[in-house]
Amino acid sequence: MNEMQARIRALLDDRTRMLAAISHDLRTPLTRLRLRSERIGQGDMRSAMLRDIDQVSRMLDETLDYLRDDTKAEQPARIELSSLLETICCDFADVGHAVTYRGPQRLVCEGRPRALSRAVTNVVENAVKHGSEVIVSLDSIADGIIAIEVADDGPGIPQALQARALEPFVKLDQARSAGGFGLGLSIAQEIMKKHDGGIALMPNTPRGLRVRLSLPLRAALPAVAAIPAKVA
Ligand SMILES: Nc1ncnc2c1ncn2[C@@H]1O[C@H](COP(=O)(O)OP(=O)(O)O)[C@@H](O)[C@H]1O
Ligand SMILES: [Mg+2]
Repeated sequence: MNEMQARIRALLDDRTRMLAAISHDLRTPLTRLRLRSERIGQGDMRSAMLRDIDQVSRMLDETLDYLRDDTKAEQPARIELSSLLETICCDFADVGHAVTYRGPQRLVCEGRPRALSRAVTNVVENAVKHGSEVIVSLDSIADGIIAIEVADDGPGIPQALQARALEPFVKLDQARSAGGFGLGLSIAQEIMKKHDGGIALMPNTPRGLRVRLSLPLRAALPAVAAIPAKVA
């Protein structure tokens, strides 16, 4: 039984490495393709090609990020969560989305800042893709537990499909979710689990989806082992 488990694990590891290698190696010809397309004279054809190239390269980046799992490489730190959330909202507002922060002006927690910011960004990206008005809020929901909620006014996700939406490479509606690879929510879930927290999807009222990312204020996060300094 144990031997079989080990073989299954080895097989999965091989596939993961292969997927990572393919995604990585495709970037070089893609960069060449971009340079060549940029040299084509002005016109609709050129911009359409560049748009497609951008989309492919975003998908490759997304896959590589997912496979790399670099949350382990980031040192835990004290994070001022309100300003982290405000920064994310501003970044979306700057490119024309109605994303507003509602919550305290100051709340410090323990976590990996880049990873948390990525989890929230993935969820907000979905919210602006499917809805038009997005509210990001921060609340204390129980003793020592905080929740970041992202609420939109889009079509929402039926309860029966909510668990599936969290799985990697799952897109619920091909027509609705152009572009992505179905990894955004599973990456967010992985990150929250590593913070001893979680992700929950629920309906928003009167319409839309509400995604709750919860985490303890003081998660017990293992520090990343220090890389020994190079001796000259
Ligand atoms: N805010 C939302 N409103 C409606 N549907 C959503 C929302 N967020 C996610 N979904 C659905 O869940 C699926 C999975 O989301 P995600 O993991 O981010 O993948 P992707 O965005 O790459 O398709 C999406 O394809 C979409 O169908
Ligand atoms: Mg997404």
